[in-house]
Amino acid sequence: MTLIWGCSHFSANACLAPICSLHHVAVTTVEGIGSTKSRLHPVQERIAKSHGSQCGFCTPGMVMSMYTLLRNQPEPTVEEIENSFQGNLCRCTGYRPILQGFRTFARDGGCCGGNADNQNCCMNQKKDDTQVTQSPCLFNPEEFMPLDPTQEPIFPPELLRLKDTPRKQLRFEGERVTWIQASTLKELLDLKAQHPEAKLVVGNTEIGIEMKFKNMLFPVIVSPAWIPELNLVEHGPEGISFGAACTLDSVEKTLKDAVAKLPAHQTEVFRGVLEQMRWFAGKQVKSVASIGGNIITASPISDLNPVFMASGAKLTIVSRGTRRTVPMDHTFFPGYRKTLLGPEEILLSIEIPYSREGEFFSAFKQASRRDDDIAKVTCGMRVLFQPGTTQVKELALCFGGMADRTISAFKTTRKQLSNFWNEKLLHEVCAGLAEELYLPPDAPGGMVDFRRTLTLSFFFKFYLTVLHKLGKEHPEDKCGKLDPTFASATFLFQKDPPANVQLFQEVPKGQSEEDTVGRPLPHLASAMQASGEAVYCDDIPRYENELSLRLVTSTLAHAKIKSIDISEAQKVPGFVCFVSADDIPGSNTTGLGDDETIFAKDKVTCVGHIIGAVVTDTPEHAQRAAQGVKITYEELPAIISIEDAIKNNSFWGPELRIEKGDLKKGFSEADNIVSGELYIGGQDHFYLETQCTIAVPKGEAGEMELFVSTQNTNKTQSFVANMLGVPANRIVVRVKRMGGGFGGKETRSTLVSTAVALAAYKTGCPVRCMLDRDEDMLITGGRHPFLGRYKVGFMKTGRIVALEVEHYSNAGNSLDLSKGVMERALLHMDNCYRIPNIRGTGRLCKTNLSSNTAFRGFGGPQGMLIAEHWMSEVAVTCGLPAEEVRRKNMYKEGDLTYFDQKLEGFTVPRCWDECLASSQYHARKNEVDKFNKENCWKKRGLCIIPTKFGISFLTPFLNQAGALIHVYTDGSVLLTHGGTEMGQGLHTKMVQVAGKALKIPTSKIYISETSTSTVPNTSPTAASVSTDINGQAVYEACQTILKRLEPFKRKNPSGSWEDWVTAAYQDAVSLSATGFYKTPNVGYSFETHSGKPFHYFTYGVACSEVEIDCLTGDHKNLRTDIVMDVGSSLNPAIDIGQVEGAFVQGLGLFTLEELHYSPEGNLLTRGPSTYKIPAFGNIPTEFRVSLLRDSPNKKAIYASKAVGEPPLFLAASIFFAIKDAIRAARAQHADNNTKALFQLDSPATPEKIRNACVDKFTTLSVTDVPGNCKPWSRRV
Ligand SMILES: Cc1cc2nc3c(=O)[nH]c(=O)nc-3n(C[C@H](O)[C@H](O)[C@H](O)COP(=O)(O)OP(=O)(O)OC[C@H]3O[C@@H](n4cnc5c(N)ncnc54)[C@H](O)[C@@H]3O)c2cc1C
Ligand code: FES
Repeated sequence: MTLIWGCSHFSANACLAPICSLHHVAVTTVEGIGSTKSRLHPVQERIAKSHGSQCGFCTPGMVMSMYTLLRNQPEPTVEEIENSFQGNLCRCTGYRPILQGFRTFARDGGCCGGNADNQNCCMNQKKDDTQVTQSPCLFNPEEFMPLDPTQEPIFPPELLRLKDTPRKQLRFEGERVTWIQASTLKELLDLKAQHPEAKLVVGNTEIGIEMKFKNMLFPVIVSPAWIPELNLVEHGPEGISFGAACTLDSVEKTLKDAVAKLPAHQTEVFRGVLEQMRWFAGKQVKSVASIGGNIITASPISDLNPVFMASGAKLTIVSRGTRRTVPMDHTFFPGYRKTLLGPEEILLSIEIPYSREGEFFSAFKQASRRDDDIAKVTCGMRVLFQPGTTQVKELALCFGGMADRTISAFKTTRKQLSNFWNEKLLHEVCAGLAEELYLPPDAPGGMVDFRRTLTLSFFFKFYLTVLHKLGKEHPEDKCGKLDPTFASATFLFQKDPPANVQLFQEVPKGQSEEDTVGRPLPHLASAMQASGEAVYCDDIPRYENELSLRLVTSTLAHAKIKSIDISEAQKVPGFVCFVSADDIPGSNTTGLGDDETIFAKDKVTCVGHIIGAVVTDTPEHAQRAAQGVKITYEELPAIISIEDAIKNNSFWGPELRIEKGDLKKGFSEADNIVSGELYIGGQDHFYLETQCTIAVPKGEAGEMELFVSTQNTNKTQSFVANMLGVPANRIVVRVKRMGGGFGGKETRSTLVSTAVALAAYKTGCPVRCMLDRDEDMLITGGRHPFLGRYKVGFMKTGRIVALEVEHYSNAGNSLDLSKGVMERALLHMDNCYRIPNIRGTGRLCKTNLSSNTAFRGFGGPQGMLIAEHWMSEVAVTCGLPAEEVRRKNMYKEGDLTYFDQKLEGFTVPRCWDECLASSQYHARKNEVDKFNKENCWKKRGLCIIPTKFGISFLTPFLNQAGALIHVYTDGSVLLTHGGTEMGQGLHTKMVQVAGKALKIPTSKIYISETSTSTVPNTSPTAASVSTDINGQAVYEACQTILKRLEPFKRKNPSGSWEDWVTAAYQDAVSLSATGFYKTPNVGYSFETHSGKPFHYFTYGVACSEVEIDCLTGDHKNLRTDIVMDVGSSLNPAIDIGQVEGAFVQGLGLFTLEELHYSPEGNLLTRGPSTYKIPAFGNIPTEFRVSLLRDSPNKKAIYASKAVGEPPLFLAASIFFAIKDAIRAARAQHADNNTKALFQLDSPATPEKIRNACVDKFTTLSVTDVPGNCKPWSRRV
């Protein structure tokens, strides 16, 4: 939403903005700026038409961020546009289309901001006559409405009038909290004296989180936001003083102005603060969060406190009758989240000093993700030299993330006073920091060696930066010169201008305008998604007698339940009942393997295991009541990790095995054998819409209607029916759309649906539950962590002759889909390579974690990553270029796979050659080598990776689909099919298919929802096949209708569709038809090793280049080129959207997203603050996607191919490019032989990258781990 205060616009997070703080503020939401009923706002129109909205759940947030920027800056630069999205996340699109659409607002013009080199810029589209069939136009900016700032709503005059009226104290009394808005400083200090325990709330970005997610209660809240003294900015003789309530945004603006106006030597500190603010939260937080809030929160990982401490900032603290000014030094934070402030004191202001001649300042931060993330280590560093010398007069090195508070390394710095800025000082400071900033091996937050190394790396960067600046100022000085190959270590991270290209085949000349197949039609709901009109499950208005449900879950991984006490919960207002296994009228047994319970009865087998649920009148009361339920346990030994499971022989089912050839012979013939292992961490789905169900009992014969965010209407229906003990025909499950699914709503959505249905049954009222993010992450599982142990035999030429891989997956506490996931991993263990002698085995580890489940790729990416891992080791061992070894082993057309499926239409070699050419691979490889020679502390890597992804459900009977088509007498068509819409554009494609089949415009066709009452017994929308199978079913239904209309067409050949429909109706011909399709001849048996698992394969190739910062582990995705074979694309915009979205999700899997578990199996990463999905800043700066042309697929509807999952694995090109870059770093710094193998598990996070770049700093930071140490987190 956008808030307008005093006529300035800023965006804010609705969930953190207290309603009481909005007095005198005008609020604009996405619905307020435009609508499909009247006129869309240009921002809404552009995101919709540029294909920037898939599931649409993030779209209103994107729209409002852009809208706010335009209200303040109608002609923004590309950089300003990109910066305004630092706090927004999207899980579907891969961000490129959002940015491209919005860049058309940029002052510099065009989708890429007028980047003159970009031939494919929307402003610069010249057709290349030699490639007439390749089009780069996914949208036409000329169609866009112009932005007219004069048409925007004005600030409400009634609020404007209030601006000059004196403010009065305001008081809001809630059920448990009183909010007081003080109007003067005196009033504020009096209130603080009366209520010393009261919290001062300005932006609420700390307190809001503590109340909402940590369940903390602050009965009195005092807001000082209106008090002039706390908002004052004063430019004094020694520095700039900011009132404590100044927002970070306003501080940033003031400092930027100061930097522009003042001499450079005075603004060293300001530039350090600004650098820190660049990576501080997003716009929505910075526009409301205060500088005082950051200081007084006293977070050990505050980004600003180390900077202020190092700079020598001063704080003015007041209370009724007292005022003092204190330096912000190491005494200011006496303990964890403690400051020197007394209970009645408040922070009035902070003075940030000007720097002096001979003074230098830097700030550094390293987090898991660059944008909007909490630091692992953050610091401010300052040195002041004796006038005209390089002799240290003052040195301050202050750190966050290295203790329970912000600290200053003064033991180390004290020793350097009067020393010269040279190598000796560098070595002494590093040795000193390594000792002084020690972390115990079980330190909270983990990553102990990494964090310790960072402190040294940061100092090294500071040392070099100062050296560089001294070199400029004192060219004759004796402190030594900056080695030019070290220079890039001092560069601050810069975003390069984007360059995006999307190429696809145009429809053949002569294709009718009405036939939209092959055209980039925008997602049919995108305009409604952009205007906020699209209805998601939780948007359904509340029923009059509706109740709220909150789950009560286990806090232990494995335990007997001894007692459940609900007495405290019953005292919460609005409490209705507690539901548990005892209330179930049917069966408590559930799950795909009949191995789960709806509610745990005697025993819990994971943290997050559902034990019961409270039902109350509101969600807030439900949250409180759920906390009131007290459960006692008898703890049992738990198995958490794959290693634990192997040790304890704890598996689901027998070993799965697939093999071909003679392994023994293969290995005996091999010139060389390499063996090793690779661990691939799990991944949370992080769909933006969490699991949600509304169950409405109908009051008759056990009927119940459920509105669910699910990919699986069928299983939801059957699980609920089974639990209630009613036939399936009483249960109707309806899905309009989901805000993302990615596999997470294929089966695990039933955990919520069955509990909610039981509550609705018990109370007779509609019941709703939408999980909070932390509950969702804890309860519903994710992608399976995998461990692959491999042995590969190969010839000197790099040709593979034998391969054996043992795969282990962490399945969790139930079987769910784990067997299918492992089968798919086993069927993808070759990726694209012919291996004559091969054996793969798979074991599903039974552990005490929440059951892991389907996730885009379904085991395929894990199987293929292990393949590419050993492949890269083969290339390194042979000393051959990796691309040569990959190409040498690649299958050829007509080859048989190891599961005896013939490869027909095998286009990987074509994609490979096109990708090599379009990415200019060989020339760039030379450039990478040159860069690596010239840069000691930054390294680049380049890698090209293919993929082959099998299309079909591995459970043969699931390869079926149904459709239902109604033609009404006005000619309009209501289409229904078995698939659900979760952003992937399935409904849009189905409408395109029906339009082409019926030869009518798509505007006549509408899909309202998916429901078990229209198309029964549907397969889940999964396995990438939904377009193939539902599309074919839709086609069949259309053919039936066409056949029935045929006589009327013949009778009236010049008539219209409406004429024929009317004539048929009047002739009493049915205008409703079903369609059905089953994929022919698929099904593979792991028992008999016979049959064909896949109908066909989707292929693709990606080439990625990265740059790593060897000192911090940070990396930059410089460029990715993808060539993807999706057959004859049904809709290139949607398909490119799937390619980019899947790739970016894969980039998250392989480089960013890391789930941390405590040694007891408790998930520690339960929200966006600790679990980082890719943000805008993570996508490749140059992102070029091309759909392979002239590659029709005769096996699927209108020659198309499945696309949802296959591109995800291509992000492995980034993983292996990072590995290449690390190899270059290791070769330089640790004198490692370039042929030496080293371990890099997935994801390649900054921690793993930094630790793998072994050098003098990492060796100084090795922490001894005693055998009995219980680390903060462990791999599972
Ligand atoms: C999405 C998100 C991202 C974030 N990213 C970062 C980040 O990158 N780096 C970082 O360091 N922090 C980050 N934070 C933390 C937070 O935004 C900052 O600490 C912020 O500056 C807090 O300011 P506030 O006004 O919102 O504090 P509030 O929540 O309003 O108050 C915080 C505390 O300060 C006290 N307080 C406020 N003003 C005064 C005063 N004048 N005198 C005495 N006590 C006072 C309050 O009593 C309370 O205890 C993030 C938070 C969120 C939600
Ligand atoms: S479209 Fe952005 S989260 Fe789905």
